[in-house]
This record gives sequence, C-alpha cells and structure tokens, in this order.
Amino acid sequence: MKEKLSIDTIAVHGAYRPDATGSTNPPLYLSNAYKFRDAKHAADLFDLNAEGYIYTRLHNPTTSLLEETVAALEGGVAAVAASTGHFAEFMLLTSLAGKGDEIIASDCLYGGTINMFSSTFRRFGINVKFARQDDPASFEALVTDKTKAVYIEAIANPASDIPDFEAISRIAERHGLPLIVDNTCATPYLFRPVEYGAAAVIHSCTKFLGGHGSVMGGVAVDLGVFDWVASGRFPEFTEPDPSYHGVVYSKDFGSSALAVKMRAGAMRDVGGSPSPYNSMAILQGIQTLHLRMERHVENTRKLAEWLKGSDRVAWVNYPGLPGNKNFALAEKYFPKGPGAMLTFGVKGGVEAGRRFIEKVSLCVHAANLGDVKTIVTHPASTTHRQLTSRQRVSAGVPDDLIRVAVGIESAEDIISDFEQALS
Ligand SMILES: Cc1ncc(COP(=O)(O)O)c(C=O)c1O
Repeated sequence: MKEKLSIDTIAVHGAYRPDATGSTNPPLYLSNAYKFRDAKHAADLFDLNAEGYIYTRLHNPTTSLLEETVAALEGGVAAVAASTGHFAEFMLLTSLAGKGDEIIASDCLYGGTINMFSSTFRRFGINVKFARQDDPASFEALVTDKTKAVYIEAIANPASDIPDFEAISRIAERHGLPLIVDNTCATPYLFRPVEYGAAAVIHSCTKFLGGHGSVMGGVAVDLGVFDWVASGRFPEFTEPDPSYHGVVYSKDFGSSALAVKMRAGAMRDVGGSPSPYNSMAILQGIQTLHLRMERHVENTRKLAEWLKGSDRVAWVNYPGLPGNKNFALAEKYFPKGPGAMLTFGVKGGVEAGRRFIEKVSLCVHAANLGDVKTIVTHPASTTHRQLTSRQRVSAGVPDDLIRVAVGIESAEDIISDFEQALS
C-alpha cells in the first residue's frame, strides 16, 4: 500500500480506524469529563506529561478525530477545533499576539474578519494593519519589530481575489513571521498552504468541510514548520509559561508548539470548544469533500460562463474566466479550479440586483457559502454591512455585487433559476 495517501482517501477515511466495537463510523462521545485511573494519572494529565482526556472544553475523543483528520488533509502536525471559524481565528491570533503587538492582514478578507480585526482586536490592544493584497510589497512596508503574523485568505470572500502566495510567503519568511492562511473558501482539496511555507491554517468548518449547512465549526491547524526560536519574535513560545507550570512550548512540544499553546491558552481560558455532535457531523461531511468540490467547481465554471453571455448581466467575476484579473494567479495556484464562489452585477444596478435576489426560487437567499445548495447573497447589505464604504471597496465589494456560492445541484437547473430570476 502507498505510504502517502491521496487527499481523496484521507477525506473518506479520516483519522478514524474501527475501534474495539468494530464501528465503521467514528463514535460520538457525549461526555464532559473522563475518569482518571488514579491521582498520579490525573496529575500527569494536568501537567501535560501524559496524553489523555480531562474535560471537553479542552478536548474530546470525537473532536480529536476531526482535528487529526483536518491536520492530515492540510499536511499539518496537529489541530485544535473550535465552535466556529471566528473562534478559530481568535484563538490562533491571540496565541501569537497580545497587547501592543501588531498583525499584518490582507485588505481582501471576509467582512466579519475585517470587523473582528479592526474593532475587537483594537480594543484588546492588538493593532491589525491592512496591506493591499494585490501589492505584496505593501505587506513588507508594514513590518515592525512588534509584528507577530501575516494573515491572508486563500480565496478571499466574496471577491475571490487570490494572493500571490510565493511573494507574500517570502516576505513573511524574510522577517521571521508566521504566515496564517484562512483556507475556508479554497479547502485543502483545491489548495494546500503548507506547500507555500504557511505556518498555520484556519477553517470555518461551517462551510465546505461540513458541507451541509447544518452545523457551525472551526479549526486551526499547526503546520509544524515555523521555527519559533530562530524567529526571535516569540518569547511566549521560547520562555517558560507561568500560567502552565512553566512549560516552554517550543522546547517541550517541538513542531506542535502552536497547537499546544492554543489549547493550553485560548481554549482553556476563553472556551469556544465545539460540540462533539458538531465535530461528528463535520467529519461526516469531510468524507465527501473531494467529490463535492469537483462538482462545486464544475458548476461554478458553467454558471460563470453562462452569466458572461447574458445580456442582462453588467459584469461577472470568477478567477477561472480567461481575462479575469486573478486568472494568472488562479492558473498558477489552483490547477483544480479557483473555488466555488462567483460575483456579478445585474444591469440596472443595486435595485435590479435586489429584484434578482428576491426572484430566485431554487437558489436560496441567505448569508452562507460552502453549502450543497446554491446560495445568493448581497454582501453590502449583509456580510459586509458593518464595514465603511471605503473598507468595502478595498475588500472588492461594490454595492451592486451579488455573491453566488454555487452548490452541487444540476448546473442546468441552477442556470434555469438564474434565467427566470433575471428576466
Ligand atoms: C472566509 C471565512 N473565514 C471565516 C469565517 C467565520 O466562520 P464562522 O461563521 O464559522 O464563524 C467565514 C464566515 O463566513 C468566512 O467566510
């Protein structure tokens, strides 16, 4: 048997191997706490000297399977699952940065993330500076001795802008900074940030990993490649942590230092752990990730081409369309296709767009993506509503933009629904 399994096989089998019962599917462990063998066992677990379970805010056997599965899909060493994608972002970035520190983020991000960075993080004293995604040099210009991370989305929600990973990764490496990639809209099936030197990945499992639009979840993956000591920027990793018996994460946990710090810090102190039921549902979703992504991408291409030919459509944006401003980057980094999200504007502007959204009948008007069902959204009035109009322009969200998160129905039926709604 091959030593390195393909991503399709990892998706199907995940980290689970049938246990003593022979159960072919991962068991759902609905238990808040786990019985200690004796007092020494309990003390060893609390001192992180033994592996095992203590309390479900910290970890849970069903959730561990989700963590190991996503870590394997991303080529990482360990992962920590969270209640939502947003908590995964919060947990990861507050494990790297604290009061007085800085993070450099792309200006093309999910609106909720821009909001978290520019309001909540600022209130906590973490200064997130936004660089222009289409100008890698603008990231470098923002580096100071307080910078702790560089943050990008692999395919930016909603404009599907694609960063130049090689250029941004080189800048992060040059300055000893971990590159963090939100891989939600790409999924490890289409893109693996580890191949471009990223230190960690986050996902909103609410989207393609779960795939069914039924449960919320998030995960942060430690890709195990970042050298905390050589960087010189992270005393919290290289010096004893007084809040955890003086452990030194880089020394005691090696390549999984970040994963242990996220669990022993943000997860222990703030919470935000997923329901084990949700972990199981996301694991079931992952089993078909590769097949769904294939169909998602195929349908998105067909719909993008059809919209391009429609005389009722003002403009269409999908990086897979020749002539698109991201086409070259899409060809370089996304050989299996640049995701399953497209944006377009209806002739007649915002009003005509609103009428279109109200007329779709098969597609769903909602604020989500990565569902098996096709979802249409008007970001300026929903997901990106809290941003200033300047931030919206910078994130590639003009007011007439309609986002389509293309599902896996028959492409002909999706197109027919668009045709009737546009007319
Ligand atoms: C790219 C991206 N990252 C993170 C999130 C946050 O995930 P969640 O809604 O699971 O908190 C979202 C949500 O839409 C997203 O689109």
